[in-house]
Amino acid sequence: MASLRIAFCCTDTRPEPWLEGLRAALPDAQVDLWAPGAPQADHAVVWAPPQQFIDEQPGLQTLFNIGAGVDALLRLRLPPSLRLVRLDDAGMGVQMAEYVCHALVRHFREFDVYDAEAREGRWAYRKPRVRSEFPVGILGLGVLGQRVARAVAGFEFPVLGWSRTPREVPGVTAFHGAASLPDFLSRVRMLVCLLPLTAETAGLLNRQTLGLLQPGGYLVNVARGAHLVEEDLIALIDAGHLAGATLDVFRQEPLPEGHPFWQHPRITVTPHTSARTLRDETIAQIARKLRALQRGEPIAGVVDRARGY
Ligand SMILES: NC(=O)c1ccc[n+]([C@@H]2O[C@H](COP(=O)([O-])OP(=O)(O)OC[C@H]3O[C@@H](n4cnc5c(N)ncnc54)[C@H](OP(=O)(O)O)[C@@H]3O)[C@@H](O)[C@H]2O)c1
Repeated sequence: MASLRIAFCCTDTRPEPWLEGLRAALPDAQVDLWAPGAPQADHAVVWAPPQQFIDEQPGLQTLFNIGAGVDALLRLRLPPSLRLVRLDDAGMGVQMAEYVCHALVRHFREFDVYDAEAREGRWAYRKPRVRSEFPVGILGLGVLGQRVARAVAGFEFPVLGWSRTPREVPGVTAFHGAASLPDFLSRVRMLVCLLPLTAETAGLLNRQTLGLLQPGGYLVNVARGAHLVEEDLIALIDAGHLAGATLDVFRQEPLPEGHPFWQHPRITVTPHTSARTLRDETIAQIARKLRALQRGEPIAGVVDRARGY
């Protein structure tokens, strides 16, 4: 791996442990923190890099994004030949499964209500809900959507999934394509969004689509804030059509002070933490992929720019 030059350019990320880890995993490579005017690199490890980085590094062959979503990268002006590689799973799948199952089970079993009653010192049973009346629909049957579907199926909820192209996932009733979305939504009570943010999926969670969910519908958005028309969600909850939502991602992050989601009694908010990038797993995956590229082998997670993910 002699003479391989790797630039590290990740916004909001403490660089030292990453540089140390990348150097340990790729001992023959030269790994440097990028700064304006830095020498040319062959490949880069990035998160939300500035346009200046791209413009100053025309010799780059690959950008390894240290997240699964590449919407921020695709907003940059990028040379057409530059290969974009996203994380596939790298420890995020199991975290996403935990987060989504926690949100669904908490809602289904009404643990939020029990929490509130316990704080008032009340010992009161609630009538068990019927599992078959809470079908879970997963928008996006990719790396994370499939992992989540498997975990949700483990709790014996009916599971439905929706993707762009046909997908066969054991235990999942699968739908694909825009034309099938209304049918899919009308069969779902608890909806999980795990789509990439693209021109087709932006604003997909709106008054019309969420209005198709079964009465008492519940939304878990763990994808991107821009999938959701936030005021439409509040209107549907306040009108009583939806029972509530658990939201990890927002149009503006951090969620601004005074935003109605903070105080809404039926909305649970977390700070974009459903599936965090795990440094060791990520470095190991990038190192494996770099070696495969050097051997001329294909790798998973190469972004198709035309489809936007
Ligand atoms: N909140 C967090 O902390 C966090 C962490 C990680 C990831 N994420 C988000 O999760 C997203 C999904 O990650 P992933 O690794 O599962 O991505 P992935 O493997 O690329 O899967 C994307 C899925 O969405 C489907 N899809 C894309 N466009 C569609 C469309 N127009 N209509 C219907 N289905 C469509 C794809 O369909 P096909 O199967 O037909 O291609 C695929 O099944 C990421 O893009 C990111 O935004 C959030």
